[in-house]
Amino acid sequence: MIENETSHAGQVTHAGDSRRLGVLISGRGSNLQAMIAAVADGRLDAAIVVVISNRAGAGGLDRARAAGIETVVLEYGAFTSREDYDAALVAELRRQEVSLVCLAGFMRLLSASFVEAFPNRILNIHPSLLPAFPGLHGQDQAWRYGVKVAGATVHIVTPELDGGPIVSQATVAVEENDTPASLAAKILVEEHRIYPEAIGVVLAGGWRIEGRRFLRS
Ligand code: GRF
Repeated sequence: MIENETSHAGQVTHAGDSRRLGVLISGRGSNLQAMIAAVADGRLDAAIVVVISNRAGAGGLDRARAAGIETVVLEYGAFTSREDYDAALVAELRRQEVSLVCLAGFMRLLSASFVEAFPNRILNIHPSLLPAFPGLHGQDQAWRYGVKVAGATVHIVTPELDGGPIVSQATVAVEENDTPASLAAKILVEEHRIYPEAIGVVLAGGWRIEGRRFLRS
């Protein structure tokens, strides 16, 4: 469990060492932007200390730079194995003393050793109501399946793809005139709302995991 800052009644907590976020991206970074906005307007008491991308051209890197956040590009081609790559990721995150790792459209599978380096301290956002439609293009999978309710999930990352304990979910209705693109856009609005909220919940501490269940009381 993440160490929380001691907070006494009436005392405000501030972003400190236990609220240092590292965000991993591969693409446009709209969820990263939602986190940046939440930190900037005080909804999320945290500091994004590094944004790491596995693609030099990821649009999210520009968003990070515009917000004055340190960026690191770690391209897989420079490494000989997944283990080496993940060890470099871990080293970078440790160098920044990151306390919570947030995957935000990071399109690489992480090894068990990466997950073990940050036990219960890696979050991911997935564009479906897990456990339905894990893997790529969750929104398209849901649309093609014909579900009437779709949504997004924030979960703790375990070695199983999109399989860790669920921190938060949000639903959207699938209308008959929705296209895969319009459905993805509706889901994305919910992603941007619930991911910063869920990060705040996890950083606040006081939660536990029983079996697969993430419990706050
Ligand atoms: C989001 O749909 C997220 O759920 C999925 O990848 C996409 C990333 O989008 N994991 P963005 O880069 O945050 O805009």
